[in-house]
Amino acid sequence: MREQSEVRSSSPYRDDPGAIRALFDDDRVHRDVYLDEALFELECERLFARSWVYVGHESQVPKSGDFITTSIAGQPLVMVRQADGSVRVLLNRCAHKGAMLVSAPSGNVGKFFRCPYHAWTYRTDGKPLAVPLRAGYEGTRLEACESSRGLESVSTSTYRGFVFARLARDGVAFEAYFGDVLKVLDNLADRSPAGELRVAGGVFRSVMNCNWKMYVENVVDAVHPISTHESAWQTARDMSQTWEHDEPKPVALEQLLPFGSSYDFYQQAGARVFAHGHCILGTQSSIHTGQGLPPGYREALAAAHGESRAAEILAFAPQNSMLFPTLAIKSTPQTMRVIRPLAVNRTLVEIFALEPIGAPAEMLQRTLSYNRLVFSPMSVVAHDDIQVFETMQAALAARGNPWVSLHREHRSDEKQDAPVDVSGNNEILMRNLFRSWVELMQRRPDGSSERAREHCNELA
Ligand code: FES
Ligand SMILES: [Fe+2]
Repeated sequence: MREQSEVRSSSPYRDDPGAIRALFDDDRVHRDVYLDEALFELECERLFARSWVYVGHESQVPKSGDFITTSIAGQPLVMVRQADGSVRVLLNRCAHKGAMLVSAPSGNVGKFFRCPYHAWTYRTDGKPLAVPLRAGYEGTRLEACESSRGLESVSTSTYRGFVFARLARDGVAFEAYFGDVLKVLDNLADRSPAGELRVAGGVFRSVMNCNWKMYVENVVDAVHPISTHESAWQTARDMSQTWEHDEPKPVALEQLLPFGSSYDFYQQAGARVFAHGHCILGTQSSIHTGQGLPPGYREALAAAHGESRAAEILAFAPQNSMLFPTLAIKSTPQTMRVIRPLAVNRTLVEIFALEPIGAPAEMLQRTLSYNRLVFSPMSVVAHDDIQVFETMQAALAARGNPWVSLHREHRSDEKQDAPVDVSGNNEILMRNLFRSWVELMQRRPDGSSERAREHCNELA
């Protein structure tokens, strides 16, 4: 049987930066980026290890010892609240033989982790605490071995309650990695009169048989809704035109109708791209502009932040923002999608509602309605997209042109130093993320951020 490492070393992309660069040709991208299993392995080792990836929200672990478990490209992680109030992210992997320390999606460990296998214990910061039969290790080399050093801690950064981790020891610092796209998170949190958000109402999970980048591109693809979601918005339009009841139209109709917005609308809606692959769709307006502001909300926001700041907060309501590579934010309704790659052709998307603390309860209800209607596994909108992603994954492998077009509004002198303001229809939003993809995927001369290789296992 061949060793895993032998299989991996056979990839033509592993040691050839030129081969990686050749996959993105300024205005088109090679289909291998969606189809090639070896490239997916490299994405796990390089791209997801070197970027700051969203892990969870502080509100999910309010008390000391509270934890949630998750994974980044095959790396099992546990995010845990410390006694001093800080939040840490650790590899969820016992230092003894590698058992997962906690398997539940969330819970409370109390004052320490205890491995379910042989009961080695660790403080919540990962430091080793106790080992049964300690005397049996005397005179052995355990002390000098990595096994005695506790749980591996991962670089963690928290911004307005959003917790991110970087698996690689070295890399771009958090603030430099995200830059001004962090204003999207400021805006989101400031939409709460208390300046605070809470993840509320559970989570929808949707697994689709497609490459994760298809989903990421779609988040900021303004040209598809009018055609892909035609049946949803036309049904909403027909129902709306014949609505004869006295009571107001249901929220669902209001939320579905704008999916028929025109190309011109998005041209004006505007977009912005940032360094490191991030972008905002809807810098000027969004199909949700003006929706979901219940009575008393503006007043509560003005009382908390002042009239002019409140007006500024409400005026900036991007339709979708992509904090590359895995966090998609909608400013109103306040929802986030977390894209979790499982395999080259399999992607999990988790959908959360964010409750603005101190705002009328109706806002959360509208967000939950939107998530059910548009993003969830029983959505009348997401099905349209998933159908396209899954058939695209199959059809891209068929004979024919191996290149995927990203030409819309491309200019040969396209400015590459983000940020850049563009129209909402410009495919620079996708070109920008592939520029970042190439950068993150190239091998560094010192190989410093390749340590994640040994942990990179495809999730079942
Ligand atoms: S594997 Fe954890 S204590 Fe043995
Ligand atoms: Fe869509």
